[in-house]
Formats: sequence, C-alpha cells, structure tokens
Amino acid sequence: MTTAVRLASLVRRRVTKETIFPTGADVRVEGLALRYGAGPWIFRDVSFRLPRGRMLAVAGPSGVGKTSLMRCLAGLLPASHGQIAYRLSDGTILTPAVMGARLGMVFQSLRLTGAASSIDNVCFGRLGRHPFFRTLLGFPRGEREEAYAELCALGLCHQAHSPVSRLSGGERQRVAVARALHQDADVILADEPVASLDKANAQRCLMCLRQRAVQDGLTVIVVLHDEDLIERYADEVLRLEPVEAGVTGA
Ligand SMILES: Nc1ncnc2c1ncn2[C@@H]1O[C@H](COP(=O)(O)OP(=O)(O)OP(=O)(O)O)[C@@H](O)[C@H]1O
Ligand SMILES: [Mg+2]
Repeated sequence: MTTAVRLASLVRRRVTKETIFPTGADVRVEGLALRYGAGPWIFRDVSFRLPRGRMLAVAGPSGVGKTSLMRCLAGLLPASHGQIAYRLSDGTILTPAVMGARLGMVFQSLRLTGAASSIDNVCFGRLGRHPFFRTLLGFPRGEREEAYAELCALGLCHQAHSPVSRLSGGERQRVAVARALHQDADVILADEPVASLDKANAQRCLMCLRQRAVQDGLTVIVVLHDEDLIERYADEVLRLEPVEAGVTGA
C-alpha cells in the first residue's frame, strides 16, 4: 500500500515558549520512507519535528504503517530512506540505534514477562541501568516503591503482586505503560497503549504520559485512534493516510 502522510499541528497549547528540561529529546524526522524488501511503500515523505516536553499522536487506519513507523523511531527497523535524530538536552545528537534505554517503549504486543508480577515487570523497565548481578538480588527498595507508585497512578495497586499472566488485557496494557514511565527514558514511544481500556482508564494512562511530558520534559509519541483522546491529550498529530483514500501528502 502506498501511503501519503500529512502532518497537522492541531493545537499548540500548554507549552507556549521554549522550555528547557534536563531530560527529554527533540525529535527530528526528515523524509522518512519505508518498504519491506522490494514490497510496496508502507509510508513515504514522513517529516516532523517535535520539541521535548510535547506529546505527538500518530493516527491512521489499520495497516497504514503506524507500528512500522514506531519501530523505525525505536531503531528496531531501518527506514528505507530518510533520517531520524534525537537531540538530547545537552545538545548531543543520537540516532535511534544508539538511544538504547533513553527510549521507553510500549509495544502493541506489550512484551511483558507473564510469570513475573506486575511490580517486577515495571521494575524491568530499569534493567539496563543496573549490573546483571545486582538485579539477581532484586531491585533497590526505592525503585520498587516508585514502581508501585506508577502502578497505583494507573489504578493497579491491587494487582501489583499478581503475575501478569493472570491479569486482564487492559490491566496488562497499564503494566506496560507503567514500565515505560518507570524507565526514566528521554522519549516514550507508545503503540496503542490504551486500545484495550475503557475511557476512564484510557484517560488516566494518557494523563500520566502527558504529565511526564509537561512536568519532566519527556518527549512522548503515542499511537491513538480515538479522536476525543487525541484532541484532549496530544499537542500535535501526525496522520498516516493511504493514498487510496484520496489524500495527497503535504
Ligand atoms: N515484517 C513485515 N514484512 C512485510 N510487511 C509487513 C511487515 N510488518 C508489517 N508489514 C506490513 O506493513 C503494513 C503496515 O503494518 P503496521 O503494523 O505498521 O500497520 P499499523 O498502522 O500499525 O496497523 P494497526 O493499526 O492494525 O496496528 C501492513 O500492510 C503490514 O502487513
Ligand atoms: Mg499497529
């Protein structure tokens, strides 16, 4: 499927002037295009700039390439053309491939450890920050308390010690969001993090993500379908649209 892309800055609100944050990263994407092997183009000419401290929603119909774009942004999939650069608060410019733990991910497939408890899964968000032997002894008490607080903020206090394999789909989704929030990343990439949630819990999740952007300067890119949620929580929206739908790129 050939895809055209339109970037629409819906609203520029809340952060009205350049804000300096110690964390977060400015994201610059230029002329990004992707095809799998010699197959058809999944998307072309994707360009946008997102300053730290802001939340971008990626929207578009199923199969249009949202997850593929997120995988490119995460450095898990090389784009066919174009560039992605993250500029950290100290001015360092990094490609996705070397961002490592600076990128917090909520995968559409979640990628949780089913046999481990919710709180352990959240703690796993900081695995890369500790020597392996240290994690064999368990995570530091302070980190477990922070992980517990992340779960409580998402309405999951009561499931903190339950194995993830026993949680509902929506509860698992919230554990995955808590893990990304706990990671202390500069950028959070969340692929449909509220797809299985009722409106109240979806709002709670997006509020937590938004707070981290506004208060801590994290850069948040989130795939969303619900237009109400996009309007309410996102500063900007990137719409991926198939050419067949009659929309040309801008
Ligand atoms: N590994 C792959 N090899 C070949 N084609 C792929 C591969 N992964 C995805 N695709 C194709 O790329 C297109 C976009 O897929 P992608 O998962 O990015 O869409 P999406 O917008 O995230 O969809 P959804 O909203 O259903 O999650 C689809 O047509 C899909 O079949
Ligand atoms: Mg997807």
